[in-house]
Amino acid sequence: MELISSKHLLTNLLVIIASTFTTHSANKGTETPYKEANTVFIRTSCSSTTYPRLCYSSLVKHAELIQTNRVVLTGAALNVTLASAKSTSAVMSAMAKRRGLKPREVAAMKDCVEVLNESVEELRRSINGMSDLRRSNFEMTMSDVQTWVSAALTDESTCMDGFEESEMSIDGTNTKSRVRGLVVQVAQLTSNALALINQLANHA
Ligand SMILES: *[C@@H]1O[C@H](CO)[C@@H](O)[C@H](O)[C@H]1NC(C)=O
Ligand SMILES: *[C@@H]1O[C@H](CO)[C@@H](O)[C@H](O)[C@H]1NC(C)=O
Repeated sequence: MELISSKHLLTNLLVIIASTFTTHSANKGTETPYKEANTVFIRTSCSSTTYPRLCYSSLVKHAELIQTNRVVLTGAALNVTLASAKSTSAVMSAMAKRRGLKPREVAAMKDCVEVLNESVEELRRSINGMSDLRRSNFEMTMSDVQTWVSAALTDESTCMDGFEESEMSIDGTNTKSRVRGLVVQVAQLTSNALALINQLANHA
């Protein structure tokens, strides 16, 4: 990156940090206008993601924490994605142990849990990186986080591919579509988080 733009980046980051403090202190007492500004901020930020509605509904619960801070918004998106990846991995681990699955299907399920666990690790690493984001390491950290979250997304699509060919069913429910639904949700949250990460990297 050129000197001018990295100078610009630092200035912007300072503005972001400064605005966190001012919004925090100004938010006491007159809640409503700020609350509205917070939800508008989330909606606007989410509008550039691939799944804007999911983005908004998953983040609006954290509006008070996010306020209008891009770094916190991105961290919250990663947190939500990590929670979803972890619970999906746990649900799938449990499903793989149930009776009625063919060995081939159990194998697909286990492979999927394995790659999902890898994506959990990539997301954890990203959250740790984001929590140590400073102006001195901004570019390098953002670049690492972009790499890790992209890897998580690849792991999730690998998992979904494993279910394309089987037609599994447990207790009369279509397990394949249930599993796909869970993993699709994780992948969509991951894709949204990546869009917000890119937005933060380009904006600063
Ligand atoms: C993300 O989760 C961590 C650990 O639970 C928490 O400390 C942090 O405040 C969360 N960050 C955001 C932005 O939600
Ligand atoms: C994946 O993670 C879950 C939950 O942390 C754990 O119970 C399971 O043993 C892990 N499975 C694999 C294959 O790594």
